[in-house]
Amino acid sequence: MAAHETSYTSFTRYLAAKKSVDDRALNQHVWDSLQQCLHERDERAQSPLAVVEIGGGTGAMVERALARGLFSTAHYTLVDAMPDNIAAASEQLPLWAAAHGFHMEEGAEPATYRITGGGAWRSDLTLRLQAADCFDFAAQPARHHQYDLLIAHAFLDLVDAPRALQRLRPLLRPHALLYLTINFDGATLLEPVVDAAFDALIETLYHETMDRRVVNGQPSGDSRTGRHLFAHLRRAGVEVLDAGSSDWVVFAGSRGYPLDEAYFLHFIIETIHGALRHHAGLDPERFVAWVQTRHAQIERGELVYIAHQLDFLGRIDMDLRLL
Ligand SMILES: C[S@@+](CC[C@H](N)C(=O)[O-])C[C@H]1O[C@@H](n2cnc3c(N)ncnc32)[C@H](O)[C@@H]1O
Repeated sequence: MAAHETSYTSFTRYLAAKKSVDDRALNQHVWDSLQQCLHERDERAQSPLAVVEIGGGTGAMVERALARGLFSTAHYTLVDAMPDNIAAASEQLPLWAAAHGFHMEEGAEPATYRITGGGAWRSDLTLRLQAADCFDFAAQPARHHQYDLLIAHAFLDLVDAPRALQRLRPLLRPHALLYLTINFDGATLLEPVVDAAFDALIETLYHETMDRRVVNGQPSGDSRTGRHLFAHLRRAGVEVLDAGSSDWVVFAGSRGYPLDEAYFLHFIIETIHGALRHHAGLDPERFVAWVQTRHAQIERGELVYIAHQLDFLGRIDMDLRLL
């Protein structure tokens, strides 16, 4: 079977494959700023940190936070709209915890867990996994002003960011932090070149599909979310404490692509294929040949993929909140 005929349709496998790409990409300065803010809070606060992660997928950020010692004591609620992702998280997290020196046990309530351990920094995390639309979740009055930290990782560029910030904001306590990461920002680079002009056309049209995406009758997505977030956050009453680039850079070394990153790349090419397969501005045969060439480049370990993205750390600005 030719590479392009293989199906690359498992979203949960894509998310798992994306984890190592994100680990490299996340902006270390922004992460350190977050860690510093949490450390200062730990010194003052009487209660455990309350975290909500929206669009949390299969729990990669939970693993990352534990592995990097982000929290000491925290209550973490992960919300994702896809029940399959939540099911995968509940299967994978115990395996990950056991393999990385953590103890994970089920809590008293359904879909709740306690994860402890982590060597020198010892984390104690209570985790709730919830399959729900995050905007429905945020609309529940019982959830309002409950959280000290909101995490949205590879999420805000999929939605109408200004509207999303407005709808999610009631979840947050005064001075709460927002850690908003992997926000796409207008550049999809694929090397080597297949045909410079055709490559550029595909990039432009692909980005246009993000800008024109409509979900439930609402605009949903922006190919320049990263740069636009500076203004969106300010208007939402969020002070930007730190920001920096978090580009995905995927390439094969002498032993091929790391871990499952070839799958990640095939999935990205199929995402572009799916977005543009019926586009009137592309010759269908030429486009299919282009897709096949990109898959073949991955098979040979030739394809280099770079996506420009930005990370943000913000804090609810009390002065603006009162306006
Ligand atoms: C690109 S994935 C990122 C997942 C995860 N943050 C990661 O990076 O591994 C975006 C996630 O947002 C979820 N999602 C999209 N719209 C949502 C909504 N309205 N409420 C909750 N989750 C949503 C999807 O199900 C998907 O898992």
